[in-house]
Amino acid sequence: QSNTVNESALPIPPMLKDTNPNPNKAEFHITAQNATKEFISGTKTETMGYNGDYLGPVIRVRRGEEVSVQVENKLKDEMTTIHWHGLEVDGDADGGPHSGIQPGESWTPEFTIEQPAATLWYHPHPERKTGKQVYKGLAGLLFIEDEVSDQLEIPRDYGVNDVPLIIQDKRFNKDGSFEYDLGMHDIMNGLQGNTLLVNGAIAPYLEVPKGMMRLRILNGSNASVYELGFDNNQTFYQIASDGGFFEKPIKMNELKLGPSERAEILVDFSEYNNGDVIQMSNQGVKFLKFSVSVNGASVKQFTIPEKLNPIEKINPEDAVRTRKFVFQGMGPRVNINGKQMDINRIDEQVNLNTTEIWEVSNESGMGMMGGTVHPFHAHGVQFQIIDRDGNPPPLNETGWKDTFLVSPGEKVRAIATFNHSGVFMYHCHILEHEDAGMMGQFQVE
Ligand code: C2O
Ligand code: CU
Repeated sequence: QSNTVNESALPIPPMLKDTNPNPNKAEFHITAQNATKEFISGTKTETMGYNGDYLGPVIRVRRGEEVSVQVENKLKDEMTTIHWHGLEVDGDADGGPHSGIQPGESWTPEFTIEQPAATLWYHPHPERKTGKQVYKGLAGLLFIEDEVSDQLEIPRDYGVNDVPLIIQDKRFNKDGSFEYDLGMHDIMNGLQGNTLLVNGAIAPYLEVPKGMMRLRILNGSNASVYELGFDNNQTFYQIASDGGFFEKPIKMNELKLGPSERAEILVDFSEYNNGDVIQMSNQGVKFLKFSVSVNGASVKQFTIPEKLNPIEKINPEDAVRTRKFVFQGMGPRVNINGKQMDINRIDEQVNLNTTEIWEVSNESGMGMMGGTVHPFHAHGVQFQIIDRDGNPPPLNETGWKDTFLVSPGEKVRAIATFNHSGVFMYHCHILEHEDAGMMGQFQVE
């Protein structure tokens, strides 16, 4: 690359202020806006951001809290929506394509937090435009805290030893603008970039204490699967998946994360010396530096907890039915069960407060180039994965999941209880596939 990239400190998304003084209630204000940002020095990139020029603040809520969020659309001539990915709320608060906010207007959903501590995220969801708006920068994190996350002996000092990493990949044009002209490869596989951003910065560094770090990682890409690790093969422990904590930490040295999946990990830097640099990599390519710094202040020391939080297994015998979803087609013809998204059609009817097994298989593009991996996501619920092709899922898929990868030819069975009513989406989370129609609607009542 000919452009010079200035080494920059990892940006830490600000924590959004709760403007409701009542401790059991929370009120937030979010504005979607156009902006410009200098990702590559000497160039300007047109972006979109929530309350800023790129990405958005962290919305932190507590279990049991009554939340209202005023979302204002200040985008130029462009409709948007805001979807709370992974949040268990009724369809009318979910922010899918039915909740369009016209330019200059606002939308104020209200909901109660009824699920355990987790790292969720929010992003726009307008029909056929989700890929472009997320790519331009509309995305942010949503933290849920509860008694369990309060009491666990894990780092919780936001921005110091509890740090979010929103990882995305982009393609920049020579003039610094984001390239979002979809070529044939993008139509087939979704837009995969060649430059990784972390919290909106290229190859940044983060000073870390000589101690335990908790990293809340979101794969915020449009279409890429990441394989994350460290350049020195440092081991780490995953403590949470999409919907919350595991029963116990899972030791690993590589983490595979599909689009929209989240993982919280603990990394112990206590064995390093002041000034040591350890780099995070994706498929061996380094993109984030951790520089260990001992600056006099004594750091609270942590050990890897033995236990996190018990997860009550949903019994497959409680399922009232098995519902099948088949990813099919390729390129512009990607679909689920032979159908492309029609906003005026409900594809599946689910009875409120029932448990179902969802069997998702991938027959898309089979025989051609080996097919494509598609991340399956459904709104308003958290799943437990029962099996993959009849085999138990990997350990780090034994917790709560709202998004899971389905490989070509594979069949994944997941189970969930549908406790919220309304109209919800299920779709492939490769955003260009979703925009092309690889999405359907289910109604819970
Ligand atoms: Cu991340 Cu339909 O959503
Ligand atoms: Cu897909």
